[in-house]
Amino acid sequence: MTQDLAPSVRQAVRPAQQAEGWWRSAVIYQVYVRSFADSDGDGIGDLRGIRERLPYLAGLGVDALWLTPFYASPQADGGYDVADYRAVDPLFGQLSDADDLVREAHRLGLRIIVDIVPNHTSDQHVWFQAALADRREGTARERYHFRPGRGEGGELPPNDWESVFGGPAWTRITEPDGTPGDWYLHLFAPEQPDLNWDNPEVREEFTSVLRFWLDLGVDGFRIDVAHGMVKAPGLPDIGRTEQAKLIGAQVLPFFDQDGVHEIHRAWRQLLDSYDGQRIGVAEAWAPTSERLALYVRPDELHQAFNFQFLTCDWDAPAMRDVIDQSLAATQSVGAPTTWVLSNHDVVRHTTRYGGDDAELGLRRARAAALLMLALPGSAYVYQGEELGLPEVTDLPDEVRQDPAFFRGDGQDGTRDGCRVPIPWEGEEAPYGFGPGGSWLPQPAAWAGLSVAAQAGDPRSMLELYRSALALRRDLPGLGDGEMRWLDAPEGVLAFSRPGFVCTINTGGDEAAMPVPGRPVLASAALAISIPEGRSTGGTVRLPSDCCVWWAV
Ligand code: GLC
Repeated sequence: MTQDLAPSVRQAVRPAQQAEGWWRSAVIYQVYVRSFADSDGDGIGDLRGIRERLPYLAGLGVDALWLTPFYASPQADGGYDVADYRAVDPLFGQLSDADDLVREAHRLGLRIIVDIVPNHTSDQHVWFQAALADRREGTARERYHFRPGRGEGGELPPNDWESVFGGPAWTRITEPDGTPGDWYLHLFAPEQPDLNWDNPEVREEFTSVLRFWLDLGVDGFRIDVAHGMVKAPGLPDIGRTEQAKLIGAQVLPFFDQDGVHEIHRAWRQLLDSYDGQRIGVAEAWAPTSERLALYVRPDELHQAFNFQFLTCDWDAPAMRDVIDQSLAATQSVGAPTTWVLSNHDVVRHTTRYGGDDAELGLRRARAAALLMLALPGSAYVYQGEELGLPEVTDLPDEVRQDPAFFRGDGQDGTRDGCRVPIPWEGEEAPYGFGPGGSWLPQPAAWAGLSVAAQAGDPRSMLELYRSALALRRDLPGLGDGEMRWLDAPEGVLAFSRPGFVCTINTGGDEAAMPVPGRPVLASAALAISIPEGRSTGGTVRLPSDCCVWWAV
């Protein structure tokens, strides 16, 4: 059996889903703007490129897109260093392209979520430039965290905080008169000074920025570092090194402080004052699922990324625990759970699951996709995962751009490998990415992984995603709702949803179990033996690393 059992026609969103809140069941596709599609041949993806490829995304069957930052930026951290929150960077187009993109997406039934970066600005932002120029108290510096250094001549950083990208989280400036001056805080690169959210002007400015994009018609925001805006009073020392990684669960004085919730509550009110169910999604790292759930209380944001699921090993009991914890935590506040396997900051899951064994990685990635899309709630798909793209692990150092790579001892510094432009068609790089080259080199093997190479091939990853997304719209039991665990052999997870059962074998060996229903989609070929003269019952031998959807 192969996955061509599924209907291929894209159905409209179910009315019930609409009434409950579209995001509760939505599948949201992450577009890493510089690597999706390039319309002008400069080798960097852009907004017009995305607009031209919207029919592909509508046909894939996702509900919404999340666009990574395309604002005016010196690109010290792939655009997460914003110099002007209301302007489109010329690399990606102009404001009218953003407007056209939103309108065209809506025409095709797709919603658009944009990234907002409130924890820090670029060092080229007018506010930071003004702060450098004017050291008087009560002025521009109070929009950021400026402090005198420690030590006799102020030559030591104000505290022991480390940057997520490595090295101290403080940089000393030179005053306009040429003397060494105060230090400023940057949890990320020195080009990304942290804003001081105790300053009312900062809060007002972001309300205005959010309004700007809401007025343009966007359906919501992915909030970058949503757990970082508020710092512990007095900026206390931590007393140890090896502090913050982007992916982490440590308790730290600069992450997950209670004060951030007040900001999110105010933003929720703003979102609710617009029609059309605009949403806020938290990129928040919290020490526990319970702490994370606080971000999605009824009067706060709508969703938070479930990084616990992303970081879980390929192991049935561990996955079951994470699923249970995630569901319990979000249910306690009435929010939908989200599921995510990859994004632009982590090693692609095909490679995480398979290591050097590409075939194993692909098999598991196929199974993981069906698992994720069968679980209750909303799911995120990172561009290229629907093509089964692996991490590019052999990028030469000269082409790398991730600031973490250059700052060595911080976050692993390998984020360029998941950001390589995706292949659309053709035998040679840039595989239809654009009329020019591509800002990171694409592997030769990607000809076989392009959209054109996979389209119509029932065994391909792309057709598996298309079928799964079409079925997810058709089967009323999927999306938001309940699930119940079923008995299953060791290494297998089985759960039911109304009219539906999902089984996944994460073990290294085939596992036999009673046939739970009629198979509608499988990540690998299945052998089912049904006793002669009967149409139901029998035994299924679930291959290793295989997930199956059953209608019951
Ligand atoms: C978020 C982004 C990451 C960026 C960081 C700093 O974690 O996903 O790409 O480097 O914030 O803005």
